[in-house]
Amino acid sequence: MDSDGARVFDRLTGIIDYPMFVVTTVAGGETAGCLVGFTTQASLDPPRFLVCLSQANHTFRIARRAEHLAVHALGPAQHRLAALFGAATEDRHDKFVRCAWKPGPHGLPVLTEAPLWFAGPIIDRIRLGDHTGFLIDPQWGADHGAQAPVLSFRAVTDLDPGHPG
Ligand SMILES: Cc1cc2nc3c(=O)[nH]c(=O)nc-3n(C[C@H](O)[C@H](O)[C@H](O)COP(=O)(O)O)c2cc1C
Repeated sequence: MDSDGARVFDRLTGIIDYPMFVVTTVAGGETAGCLVGFTTQASLDPPRFLVCLSQANHTFRIARRAEHLAVHALGPAQHRLAALFGAATEDRHDKFVRCAWKPGPHGLPVLTEAPLWFAGPIIDRIRLGDHTGFLIDPQWGADHGAQAPVLSFRAVTDLDPGHPG
């Protein structure tokens, strides 16, 4: 019973409902972005946020050369944006011609439809199995005052990841 950790972990990760974000980045003029659920606040003081990117994703390949990341919260009205960034890969689709964005700090693509975003330098990269953790110092951002800018995992279970894991 005590050795059943993997099964218990699978059950728990199937139950918990976590917020979804769209992470964007840029390196050498190439923009990238994907939908992420593996994130967490990692420190209060100093403030730190951890974003875990699959090493299979196009976004990871750009992010490992990038100096900054932007994290966009989504509301229920942004399901289309979640689908664009989560169910399609930049390897085959140009996501940034299909959404409204503007260059933000250090040229980071800022999605204008997102109700809230923050961005900052990548201050550490940590290999975590098949994902790599990118630790962000949230220095810039904008909050458009939406009531609850949180699109949760439960709201996007209709989406299949665009990039094979
Ligand atoms: C519900 C859901 C959660 C996801 N969570 C993550 C995640 O935490 N990290 C990640 O790198 N990809 C995650 N993905 C997968 C990417 O968003 C997806 O494969 C995307 O198409 C990758 O695009 P890219 O190849 O342009 O980077 C998730 C996808 C979905 C549908």
